[in-house]
Amino acid sequence: MKLIGPFKQIVTLANLPLRGKISDEQLEIIEDGGIIVSHNKIRQIGNFETLQSENPNMEIEKIEGEQIVLPAFTDSHTHICFGGNRANDFAMRNAGKTYLEIAESGGGIWSSVQHTRNASEEELLQTLLQRIDFLLALGITTIEIKSGYGLDVENELKMLRIIKKAQQQTKATLIPTCLSAHLKPRDFGGSNQEYLQYILTEILPKVKEENLAKRVDIFIEKSAFQPEESKVFLLKTKDLGFDITVHADQFTPGSSRIAVEVGAKSADHLEATVDEDIEFLAQSETVATALPGASLGLGEKFTPARKLLDAGAILAIASDWNPGSAPMGNLITQASILATFEKLTTAEVLAGITFRSAFALGLEDRGKLEPGIKADFVTFKTNNFQNVLYNQGSLKADNVYVDGMKINNLL
Ligand code: NIG
Ligand code: FE
Repeated sequence: MKLIGPFKQIVTLANLPLRGKISDEQLEIIEDGGIIVSHNKIRQIGNFETLQSENPNMEIEKIEGEQIVLPAFTDSHTHICFGGNRANDFAMRNAGKTYLEIAESGGGIWSSVQHTRNASEEELLQTLLQRIDFLLALGITTIEIKSGYGLDVENELKMLRIIKKAQQQTKATLIPTCLSAHLKPRDFGGSNQEYLQYILTEILPKVKEENLAKRVDIFIEKSAFQPEESKVFLLKTKDLGFDITVHADQFTPGSSRIAVEVGAKSADHLEATVDEDIEFLAQSETVATALPGASLGLGEKFTPARKLLDAGAILAIASDWNPGSAPMGNLITQASILATFEKLTTAEVLAGITFRSAFALGLEDRGKLEPGIKADFVTFKTNNFQNVLYNQGSLKADNVYVDGMKINNLL
C-alpha cells in the first residue's frame, strides 16, 4: 500500500454518466490530492495531507512540483500490427485520388496485406511493440488491436499470435480483435459470401481454440462487405460466442443500423451517419466511436459527435491508427481537434477516451479514479488539467502508471 501525491489536481471523472452530454461543471476536481494504491487498485482518493495524517506509517511516493493526474486513456480502435507503409497512398489522395479509388486499383488495404504477409514475425512484433510504447507514452494503457492485414488462415493467425506475444512484453492491456472481414483478399477465388463463410469455418474456430481474440470486426462499405451478407455473418459470429464491433458508415450510411441490430459493442467511424441513425444509435447500448484520426488522414468530415452526444449516445473517441487512413497515432491530438470542430466539452472528450472507450471493449474496471478501480493513471506537469487538451497533444505526459506502478523508460 502506498500514498502517491500531492497532486495539484486529481480529475477523477467519478459520477459521470455512461451516455450523453456532460458539462464541465460535472467534473470532480480534487485540489492538493493524494491517491492510495493497494495491490493493483485504487484504494482511496482525497486531500493529500488528510490521507497522510490518517496513515502516518504509509509509504509515500512523493510528486515533485505541480502536477495533475487523470485516469489513463483507452484507445478502443487501432490497427497497429502491420508491415510496410502507405505514404504513397497519402500523397496520391492529396493529389486528387479518393480512398476508394486507390483501394479499387489494388492499393489501400490490399497493399498493407502484402507487406504484412511478407514481414517476418520478429519484424512485426518489434514494430508493434514500438507503436505500443508510443501510445503508452501518451498515457494510453489499454489498447485494442485488430488483425485484418493477413486475410487468410495462416496470416490472420500470425497477426493474432503476434499480438498475444506482445502482451507478454508490455504492461499495457492489449485487446485483440479478429478483423479477417476487412476485405475479401484478391487471391481468394470466390465470392464475398464464400470468404465470410471461410472466416466462420476456417479462421474463427482456430481463433477460439488458441484464445487469440474474443471480438470480431467487419468493414461494411461499398469496397468491402455489403450490409446483408455482413448481417448474416455477424449473427453467426455471435452464435460462436464472439463480441461484435463494426466499421460502420465511414463513407456510405446504413451500416451503423446493422451494428445496433446485431447488438454490437460498438459502431466505429460514423462520418456518414444520417440523423435518424444517430437517434437509433442513441437508443442503444452500442457505443458510437468517433475516429478523428481517419478524418484527418483522409481529409473527410468528422463524425457528428456533438449530435450523437446530444441525442444521448455513448460516444467514445479512438485513434484508428493504421497505415492507410490514420497514420498519426496521437489520440490526444486527434481528440483535442475533434473537440474544436464538434464543440465537445473537456468532460466529454475525457470521458470519450477513458471510461466510455473502455466500456466499448467491455471493460468497466478502468477509466475513472475511484476506489476499487484499476490503478492506471497519467500525470502531466501543469497546474491546470485544461492544458492537456488545450495543447492539442504537445504537452507530454510526465508519468504513466499501470497497476499503481510507474512505467520506466517512457518514449
Ligand atoms: O478504419 N476503413 C477500413 N479500415 C481502416 C483503414 C485500413 C487501411 O486503410 O489500411 C479504417 O479506416
Ligand atoms: Fe479502423
